Amino acid sequence: MSTPRPVLVVDFGAQYAQLIARRVREARVYSEIVPHSMPVAEMLAKNPAAIILSGGPSSVYEPGAPVLDPALFANEVPVFGICYGFQAMAQALGGTVAHTGAREYGRTVLSPASQAGTLLRELPAGLPVWMSHGDSVTEAPSGFSVTASSAGAPVAAFEDLATRRAGVQFHPEVAHTEQGQEMLKRFLYDIAGIEPTWTATNIIEDQVAAIRDQVGDKQVICGLSGGVDSAVAAALVHRAIGDQLTCVFVDHGLLRAGEAEQVEKDYVAATGIRLKVVDASDVFLGHLAGVTDPEQKRKIIGREFIRTFEAAARELDAERHIEFLVQGTLYPDVVESGGGTGTANIKSHHNVGGLPDDLQFALIEPLRTLFKDEVRALGAELGLPEEIVQRHPFPGPGLAIRIIGAVDRERLDVLRAADLIAREELTAAGLDRDVWQFPVVLLADVRSVGVQGDGRTYGHPVVLRPVSSEDAMTADWSRLPYDVIAKISTRITNEVREVNRVVLDVTSKPPGTIEWE
Ligand code: XMP
Repeated sequence: MSTPRPVLVVDFGAQYAQLIARRVREARVYSEIVPHSMPVAEMLAKNPAAIILSGGPSSVYEPGAPVLDPALFANEVPVFGICYGFQAMAQALGGTVAHTGAREYGRTVLSPASQAGTLLRELPAGLPVWMSHGDSVTEAPSGFSVTASSAGAPVAAFEDLATRRAGVQFHPEVAHTEQGQEMLKRFLYDIAGIEPTWTATNIIEDQVAAIRDQVGDKQVICGLSGGVDSAVAAALVHRAIGDQLTCVFVDHGLLRAGEAEQVEKDYVAATGIRLKVVDASDVFLGHLAGVTDPEQKRKIIGREFIRTFEAAARELDAERHIEFLVQGTLYPDVVESGGGTGTANIKSHHNVGGLPDDLQFALIEPLRTLFKDEVRALGAELGLPEEIVQRHPFPGPGLAIRIIGAVDRERLDVLRAADLIAREELTAAGLDRDVWQFPVVLLADVRSVGVQGDGRTYGHPVVLRPVSSEDAMTADWSRLPYDVIAKISTRITNEVREVNRVVLDVTSKPPGTIEWE
């Protein structure tokens, strides 16, 4: 199978386009995000299976509000308008959008019309949906039937099955809209007539063929970090070209307990990948000695990482000439850097963070079209160990930025022991998937008095920072059950001698960040 016809999600500048694209993928339909500034002819040249117009500024009358080119409707592509996209669509097709003065923000109740149509058919009455609008569609374009209203939106949903077009004033992509995913599926399957064929198996077949094509009989290198993305990217490339791939794992000594072993043993056992391990912990810790400033730590680690990786790459290159470098770039990185179009031959420079000019590779980026959850599904399908596939995000500079103060082996051991306990208890409580990330932070420069056994202690505090998030851009502190927190606290203070206090971070992001540093 070749890459399927995309559902294009036209980004009108709200934060929802990525979420819509993900929901479409969750419905097993391939999607791509395009900017609203893309000419309609260019969108159509992508041969889209359907087009979804996303939310955007609250009003089509707002100065500078993006305009929808009516040329979009001069052809037969199915279209689904959401929120702003719904209003822009109504206006472009001859309906009426008016300032009714009735704004709706947040949770609203939907009243289906007596003819609920295809999108809302047989859904319970009084469905909660998520709204965010000032203006309202007061009259649907001709040919469309109005299938729902709300207190502030006389036309909250419409559809025209003959032209395969539909729209909703609310946001079906957010979790607060009950049955939102069901509505999206009905648009995709029942109105646009798209088959749900975007599956992990198909993606793998696709990518394997593309990688073989790109690489031919050349040699390839990939840096493994211990994280999900590089692990899956390498496994995919290995599936395609086997031993033409060599992986390099730089152990900087700042990983959590068991992580290096997971890469060196379990991952290699599961994939059969040829791995070169470089134990560079002495070098990294040597350069980090006495450094307390987090930016300084990051700079040192970045610099040493490149030096080490480069040296390993040169050694390998001397054995077998290497022409390609695998990168675990994901779709959100591509969208956020305003890209989407080919950077196939750029110097590895920009991505690895500064390999020198005389060490040039062409890039292989097999995950460039994928979201994180798809990468995980792929990893599972490729037979990677669960511990790697489901691993929470972990910063490149590792535990160095989770020690507040200077980094040394002893402090790393203390943090590793506390971190392992937190992870074990989270897993034991079955909560791994409810939490986005669970940093454990050692306040190495802080001491406080405690009492243990018969004696007074003067130990360090450890901070628990479990957070819930969709994408790490915003986050909230996870409401872990008290008994789980209690268990972690008791075990850490009992088992880690240097720690006499455990505190919980109850700050959202913003204003806090996820990591402490
Ligand atoms: P903050 O702390 O900014 O973190 O809320 C957002 C997300 O980014 C991760 N993070 C990093 N990941 N290299 C990485 O690969 C880094 O230097 C780095 N710093 C933060 C962090 O763990 C969270 O998921």
